[in-house]
Amino acid sequence: MSGAPWTATVLTIFPEMFPGPLGHSLAGKALARGLWRLDPVDLRDFATDRHRTVDDAPFGGGAGMVMRADVIARAVDSVQARGAPGPLVYLSPRGTRLDQRIVRELAAGPGIVLLCGRFEGVDERVLEARPFRELSIGDFVLSGGELAAMVVIDACVRLLPGVVGDAASLEEESFADGLLEYPHYTRPAEWEGRKVPEILLSGHHERIRAWRRQKALEITRARRPDLLTEAAELACSAARDRAAPPLPRTAEEA
Ligand SMILES: C[S@@+](CC[C@H](N)C(=O)[O-])C[C@H]1O[C@@H](n2cnc3c(N)ncnc32)[C@H](O)[C@@H]1O
Repeated sequence: MSGAPWTATVLTIFPEMFPGPLGHSLAGKALARGLWRLDPVDLRDFATDRHRTVDDAPFGGGAGMVMRADVIARAVDSVQARGAPGPLVYLSPRGTRLDQRIVRELAAGPGIVLLCGRFEGVDERVLEARPFRELSIGDFVLSGGELAAMVVIDACVRLLPGVVGDAASLEEESFADGLLEYPHYTRPAEWEGRKVPEILLSGHHERIRAWRRQKALEITRARRPDLLTEAAELACSAARDRAAPPLPRTAEEA
């Protein structure tokens, strides 16, 4: 591998939460192999009082506390001065909703600097004063940005070269081509009276590919019609036509 590995720098008041789940399975093995780096940074190290305070009461009143702009800016400037690579991202329910296109874009870069909010969030001025991009992992509110940071990192890491053993599996999964994924089956071939679709036992790779593409289209149309583009519809009707010929019943017919 050439150059520095993809690096996730995480600004948080709970650095001990990391790597957490990212230390296991695919991401954990890749971390151990040096395919990516994780740098959790304690925001409290950038407080200036002896209580290591990072938050204060909101101007204008209201419930909860707000993370201070000066503390966050010092942390951001410090990690960037020592070369933390990649764009600055504040995890926030107000942000652009994360999707696979954004994940691909982030994974293709040198890394990411993630700011995890707590309490009511962060002082707006630091989001203006530093080039933060805001990303949300969905339309719900978490109690802190750490789990959201883990989601972003996990989604990026599995796209890094060498992390997933068979890179072909990344090409066929949900969102890779704008569609949700087709259904999977494994042994036994019959379970509780339910049989595996016959075509998957046929050994006809081209027809299996076409059948899977057709299923991907049906599932996407039923569950996420918003994902369907005209191009995907056209590609899928071509696939349906290729899947249409009847399956040979005997090896001689094949
Ligand atoms: C309790 S939340 C603050 C919510 C904020 N007051 C609001 O209403 O938008 C605390 C922190 O959790 C993180 N967070 C919560 N929900 C999130 C989401 N859907 N996506 C990404 N980060 C989230 C953010 O970092 C946020 O600053």
